[in-house]
Formats: sequence, structure tokens, C-alpha cells
Amino acid sequence: MNRIPENGNGGGGSSAKPLQPATRLVTAGRVPSEQHGFVNTPIYRGSTVLYPTVEKFLKRDARYTYGTKGTPTTNSLEVAWTELCGAAGTVLVPSGLAAISIALLSCLKAGDHLLVPDSVYRPTRNLCDTLLRKFGVETTYYDPLIGADIAGLFKPNTRAVFTEAPGSLSFEMQDIPAIAAVAHARDAIVLMDNTWATPLFFPPHERGVDIAIEAGTKYCSGSSDLLLGMVSANERCWKDLRAAFDSTAFCAGPEDVFLALRGLRTMKVRLMHHQESALAVARWFAARPEVARVLHPALESDPGHALWKRDFTGASGLFSIVLKPMPDKAAHAFINALTLFGIGASWGGFESLAIPFDCAAFRTATAWTPGGPCIRFHIGLEDVGDLTADLERGFAALRALA
Ligand SMILES: Cc1ncc(COP(=O)(O)O)c(C=O)c1O
Repeated sequence: MNRIPENGNGGGGSSAKPLQPATRLVTAGRVPSEQHGFVNTPIYRGSTVLYPTVEKFLKRDARYTYGTKGTPTTNSLEVAWTELCGAAGTVLVPSGLAAISIALLSCLKAGDHLLVPDSVYRPTRNLCDTLLRKFGVETTYYDPLIGADIAGLFKPNTRAVFTEAPGSLSFEMQDIPAIAAVAHARDAIVLMDNTWATPLFFPPHERGVDIAIEAGTKYCSGSSDLLLGMVSANERCWKDLRAAFDSTAFCAGPEDVFLALRGLRTMKVRLMHHQESALAVARWFAARPEVARVLHPALESDPGHALWKRDFTGASGLFSIVLKPMPDKAAHAFINALTLFGIGASWGGFESLAIPFDCAAFRTATAWTPGGPCIRFHIGLEDVGDLTADLERGFAALRALA
């Protein structure tokens, strides 16, 4: 009855060619025969799981044992994400920041030292500087461009290296394989926030990452209507990651998981469209006299382009620009004049966004001196011509104040 390749067998038996990621997006984690033939796993809501006998209750060997530990809905997404990432296992948590938190808690203890790029998503920095510090973990921030020279920052107690490529807001590329080689030679664990690329454009575990984080809130949703985090781990780190999840029960809500499963099936077509439109808009910005630099690693002119080309298979819809020297109020007037770009932080949905930013306020290992006001854009699924016409309006407002 069920003709799709079911959970975990990769499809077609062991002698068949492995399925491509685009196919896995469609097939992974779906078992219609377990859902009366329905295509999608429905939303299972529940706390209590009933057992037929006391003996079975005491043994606790049922597939589902308690609401926080998993349901068929969460299992579908865990299986799909694990397969897509080439991981040993995945946990689902209520947000991207929760994913970063559980990933770090799973591999660190009091007395450990952690290395974190200066370009990291700012709330990750806050977590390191507050909660992790309180529990006795010391963080050193490093230049995201450091590559193999990160060896010089290792201490005898360095337990983990956090990475994120490209950098949040500022889009520096990191040499993940080089950093992973240095870390692994010292028995340290490599974590990566892979939200920008997703496993479709950067297969994290193949490139040396032990624990990969994805804010499912962004492209897995694609509609700005859910909050979710996925953490996948390789064999080395999976047991500890699952133990951290079980001991905290930071479990994701069933409706958000269902919506993420829905989004997952179309993630590749959306990402390809975001990529194409964002590159077109980035190139359009690069030709504007008001723009000093476009921070987008898939542009040939970007300093991180060679690394991006070597390690990534695509780019998503998020990038930044640096304007020529002008007052901040001119950049603000530019954004305020836009009608198709929302002013909002969480990206990855179908809509375009623009926000001003300044990394100088929080960097500690590197100087942020771009020379002009900076704006981060998310390019949504609108028509590119309509977007550039809107941006023209923004530049007219900017010129009035520049
Ligand atoms: C790179 C990156 N990682 C993680 C997150 C956190 O995701 P969430 O909003 O689900 O906590 C964000 C959110 O903007 C992000 O940009």
C-alpha cells in the first residue's frame, strides 16, 4: 500500500543509489501506512501515554512513553532532519535560541573553556556571557576569519568551538573544515549555527561539525508563523545531546512541529527562489553609487567567496549592505520609505525585510568599522523588479538626508 521509501531505509534498499536531498525533503520521516494512508503525520497532542498492563508500564519499552519524550509528530521531523543532515540523531526544541542553549549545555561543564566567533548571533553571546559564565564556563571570542590559527587560542580546558557561517549581520565566512581539524586534533567538539545555509546548502556533519543547530523558525517554516529549533549530532555527540534533552524536556509544541514538517517539504524550491532573488538584489545594490559594500558571500567580490564556493552549494536570502558615509538618519529614512520590506528581525519567511544594525556596540575580539551605516536585508518571494522599484524609493528618501 505504501510506495514511498519509509523512515530510515534511505529508499530502494542498500544497493540503490542514495537519494538526493531534494527527494529526502519529500520522503523522509513520512510513514503513511502508520497514519491510515494519509500523506502527512497529523498533530499528536498529549501528555499521558497509557500502557496496557503494569508490567509494560514498569518496563517502559513502548515506542512512546511520555509526552515530553516524543510523539509520532515529533518523530517524523526528527527522522527527516536526521536523514537530511546525515546525523546520528536530532532533538526538537521550542526556538533557535533554545537549540543553541541545549547544544552548548549538552557538551560543556563547569571549568570548561569555549571558543565563540565575534560575529556570532548576538543572543548566543548573551547566553555565553550570562548563564554559561554563571555555571563556570569561560568564553573567549575569536576573529571569525581566523581559520586554522584558532590553534593559538586553545587552552588545556578548551572543550568546544562554536562556529556560525556566514556571521550574523556581518556575513564573514568561516573555514569550518580547518577549524574542525584543529579542534578534533585537541579532542574538542565543534558546534555550528547553520541556520543561514540549512543542510541543503551546507551539509554540516560532512564538513566536520559534531553538533549542528538550525533555527527552524526561519526557512523550515518559510512563513514566519512558528518558533522551533533543531539540533542534530553525529555519533560522537548524539548520546549526550539526547541526555541533555531528556533531562530538561525543552520540548517543541506539536503545532509548530507539524507546520515545520509542512514547510520542510517545500524548503528547497523556496530556498532556490530566495537565493536567486537575493543575488539579483545584491548585484543591483553593488552597482548603486550610495552603497560602499555588499556583504554577501556568493558575490564574486566578497572576501569570503572562495570559502563559500568550496564548502557551500548555495546561498539563502539574507545579506547586508554598508552605505557610503552618511548620517544614520539617512539610512533610517531609506528603510522607513520602503513599502514592500517589513522592519522586523526574524527572517526566512516569504516576505522581504530590512533592519539597520551596528556591530560596534558588542564586538570584543575584532573592530567593526564599516565606514557607513549598515542595513540587513531578507529577500522574500516577491517579484525582484517590484523590490528594486521599492528600493529606488528608499534611495530617493535617503538622498534627501545624506
Ligand atoms: C543565525 C540565527 N540563529 C539562531 C536564531 C534564533 O532563532 P529563534 O528566533 O527561533 O530563537 C536566529 C534568529 O534570528 C538567527 O538569526
